[in-house]
Amino acid sequence: MVIRKRNDMTQYASANDVKESALQKEYMKKAASYVTGLEAQLGRKPLCCVTTFGCQMNARDSEKLLGILTQIGYVPTDCEEEADFVIYNTCTVRDNANQRVYGRLGFLNSLKKKKPHMRIALCGCMMQEHAVIEKIKNSYRFVDLIFGTHNIYKFAQLLVTMFENHEMIIDIWEKTDQIVEDLPVSRKYPYKSGINIMFGCNNFCSYCIVPYVRGRERSREPGDILGEIERLVDDGVVEVMLLGQNVNSYGRNLPQPMTFAQLLREVEQIEGLRRIRFMTSHPKDLSDELIEVMQQSDKICRHLHLPVQAGSNRILQAMNRRYTKEQYLSLVDKIKTAMPDIAITTDIIVGFPGETLADVEETIDVVRKVQYDNAFTFIYSKRTGTPAAAMTNQVPDELVKEGFDKLLKVVQDTARERAALLQGKVMEALVEGVNEQDASYLTGRLTNNMLVHFPAEQRLIGQFVNVSLDVCHGFYYTGHVVC
Ligand code: SAH
Ligand code: SF4
Ligand code: F3S
Repeated sequence: MVIRKRNDMTQYASANDVKESALQKEYMKKAASYVTGLEAQLGRKPLCCVTTFGCQMNARDSEKLLGILTQIGYVPTDCEEEADFVIYNTCTVRDNANQRVYGRLGFLNSLKKKKPHMRIALCGCMMQEHAVIEKIKNSYRFVDLIFGTHNIYKFAQLLVTMFENHEMIIDIWEKTDQIVEDLPVSRKYPYKSGINIMFGCNNFCSYCIVPYVRGRERSREPGDILGEIERLVDDGVVEVMLLGQNVNSYGRNLPQPMTFAQLLREVEQIEGLRRIRFMTSHPKDLSDELIEVMQQSDKICRHLHLPVQAGSNRILQAMNRRYTKEQYLSLVDKIKTAMPDIAITTDIIVGFPGETLADVEETIDVVRKVQYDNAFTFIYSKRTGTPAAAMTNQVPDELVKEGFDKLLKVVQDTARERAALLQGKVMEALVEGVNEQDASYLTGRLTNNMLVHFPAEQRLIGQFVNVSLDVCHGFYYTGHVVC
C-alpha cells in the first residue's frame, strides 16, 4: 500500500500553479501510453465510467476527471458493467450518500472478479474522512486508487502511479491553497456549464461536514473565471452556473478583493452568453448590491436558491447560521419587492438536535410566508466530527418523521400553488434535451428553473424557444412552441 499525506501546505504562487498544470500534462502523456498498451491487450478502446454522487460542485469535478480520462485515450460510457475503469466521485453530506457508495462497491467487486484488468478508483468528499479510508482499506481491498478533494488536479499523475503499481494507492491531503487552472474538462452538456468560482467553505454550520472535507474558502481570480467563460461561450455555451458553497462571500480573500456582485457585472458583459445562474447563496451574506445587479440584469436568471435550513431562532442559532427568522423573512421581502417575478427555492433540515414539533411549526410558517417555488427537505444526518454530532439532545426518529411529513405537505402545496400562477403565459425556455418519457417531446428550462415539456424537433436542443405554458402538472408544465 502506498500512502502519501501532505499536511503542511505552504502558500503557492500562481507561477507554481502554471508549472503544476504543465507537469500534469506530461503525466497525461505518460498515462496515455499505458492506455494505448491496454488497448492493444484488449483489442479495442478501453472504456471509462465516472459516477457522480454529490452536488453541482462534485458534478463539475467529474467533468474534470472525464476530461483527463478522455484525453489519455479512454472512451466514456455510462455503463459500469462494460467499463474498464470506474471512478466513484463521492459525497458525504448525509449518511445515505455514503451508504449508496458502499452498496455499489460490492457490485463493482463482482465485475472485477470477471474482468481482472478492471481498475476501480474512489475520490471526492467521502474520501477526506479518516474512518472511511480505514473501512475501505480493511473491507474493500479490490479498490486500486483513492484520493480526496484537494489533489484532484493530480489525477493524471495518480493514474500513472496506479498503472505502475499493483497495490492500493491512497493519496489524501488535509488541505491545499492551490488552484490549478487550465486542465482538460469534458462537459456533459454542449450548451450549458458549471463554473467553479470558489472552493471550500468557512461557515461551519454546526451540522455540516463540507468545511472539513472541502477545506477553507478560496476564490478563483476573476480573470481566470472570465477567461474560462469566454472560452466556453466560444465553444457554444449559452448558460453558465457559477458555483460555490457560499457565492456571496466570493472574492474576500483575493489579493485584490472584489464582491460577487462585481464579478456578476463582469460576467454579464460577455458577449454571446445568454443566461447566468449561481448557487449557493448564504442569506447572511446576500448584499443589497447583489439584489441591484440581479434586478438590472437581462442575463441573470430569475431564480435564487436561498437555503433557510430552519425557521426557529433557537435552532438557527444552534446551527450557527448567523441570521434569525425575522432577518431571513425581511431579506426575502426585499428581494421580492425588487424582483416580483423571482422564484425562490430553499433547503430545509428537519430533526436537528433539540428540534421540537413547535420548532418545525416555525419552519412551516417560513414556508407559508415565503411561498417557495421549491424546497429540498432533508432529514438531519449526524456527521462525525461536526459540533452537532456531539450534542446530546438528538431527536428520536418517529418525532423527526412526524415533523418531516407535516413540513413536506406544506412545501408541496405551496410549490404547486406557485407553479400554477404561470399557466397560460409564454416564456423563453432553453431546450435541454429529449423528454425521458416521450421522445417526440423536448424538455426546456425556464428562467425560474422550472421545466416545460413540449412537442418539437430535436434540432432545437441547445436553443432558446418561446413556449406557451398550457398545463401545469404540479412542478412542471406541458406546452407548445410559439413562433
Ligand atoms: N453550501 C450550501 C449547501 C451545501 S450542502 C449552503 O450553505 O446552503 C446542501 C444541503 O444539504 C444544505 O443546504 C443542507 O440543507 C443539507 N445538509 C447539510 N448537512 C446536512 C446534514 N448533516 N443532515 C442533513 N442535511 C444536511
Ligand atoms: Fe455547509 Fe453551511 Fe458551508 Fe453550506 S454554508 S457548505 S451548509 S457549512
Ligand atoms: Fe457536495 Fe457532497 Fe461534497 S454536497 S461538497 S459532494 S459532501
